[in-house]
Amino acid sequence: MKNLHIPAICIHAYGGPEQLQLEEVPVPVPAKDEVLLKVVASGVNPIDWKLREGLMQHPLPYIPGIEGAGIVTAVGEGVFGFKIGDEVYGSIDGSYAAYAIAPVEVMFRKPAFITFEEAATLAGARTAWGALFDIANLTKGQRILIQGAAGGVGHFAVQMAYNTGAYVIATASEENADFLLSLGANEVIDYKAAPFETQIEPVDIVLDAVGGEITDRSLAVLKPEGVLVALVNMPSPNKAEAAGVRALWGGTKTIASMKAVHELLERELIRPYVRRVFQPLSAAAAAQEYSQQGGTGKGKIVLKIHED
Ligand SMILES: NC(=O)c1ccc[n+]([C@@H]2O[C@H](COP(=O)([O-])OP(=O)(O)OC[C@H]3O[C@@H](n4cnc5c(N)ncnc54)[C@H](OP(=O)(O)O)[C@@H]3O)[C@@H](O)[C@H]2O)c1
Repeated sequence: MKNLHIPAICIHAYGGPEQLQLEEVPVPVPAKDEVLLKVVASGVNPIDWKLREGLMQHPLPYIPGIEGAGIVTAVGEGVFGFKIGDEVYGSIDGSYAAYAIAPVEVMFRKPAFITFEEAATLAGARTAWGALFDIANLTKGQRILIQGAAGGVGHFAVQMAYNTGAYVIATASEENADFLLSLGANEVIDYKAAPFETQIEPVDIVLDAVGGEITDRSLAVLKPEGVLVALVNMPSPNKAEAAGVRALWGGTKTIASMKAVHELLERELIRPYVRRVFQPLSAAAAAQEYSQQGGTGKGKIVLKIHED
């Protein structure tokens, strides 16, 4: 295995999509408590292009991608519970590659009833779970506004809030309204038709998966002592204080949130939706451009690397 090379997308310098270079790299070797995966599908997250642009720092060079789904092809020392041939998904640093290694503690068995593409999208669910339950402490009967509800994080947040018995208000383009109602939203607000502030009654919690001006504007729809959980940027502390509400950062990542999401998935209490699949690996630049352009859609973008 050590002398073999595999295709992988490599980034040597920050910049545009042209920085995503398809190269041959040595096949990684799993260390203790790690597995080697044949990556069937990689999730394409907004953070992938933000890192590529240098908006957040990442040591160079690197292979992009933070999550995926695939088949175990080798196990490191001390690995129990996974064997060669197992179908798994989870957090994989460097998932834009034909093969990648990952620690077993962030690997989960792919349920047979979902596809590899669907299983490659669960990072958004982990973010949603952490924001709703670790940070906002969402409980039954509360009113929650989910900004960016049709996206990779939002569509999971809607399902989780519905399961909890919250009253769920979702912002989305008109064409995504039926999708979000089917996931459990009580109201869908077309943010393009009129300012969302003019369309809803006050809420206990806002989950902001949009950012920009939406973050500060979201303060206005909170009840006194309400909580804004921000995933993209924090509002001005002065504005939050002046509005009499709390603003918290929602980007928590814990093993506990991954386990909670896996349990919801196995119990079919959440379902992943794939917006669009790009393939093969050389389509990575097109996939990131599509993510970066925004645009309307339902669920998550996926890069398909191998046939199942
Ligand atoms: N801090 C963290 O740990 C963390 C983790 C994950 C994600 N994030 C960030 O959260 C953001 C969302 O991630 P994602 O994966 O969900 O992105 P995504 O899948 O690209 O979601 C984009 C969605 O945002 C919606 N949207 C755009 N402008 C809107 C507006 N003004 N009001 C309401 N909805 C709007 C669009 O909905 P329509 O199609 O309905 O128009 C689109 O479907 C990204 O900036 C990402 O970097 C942060």
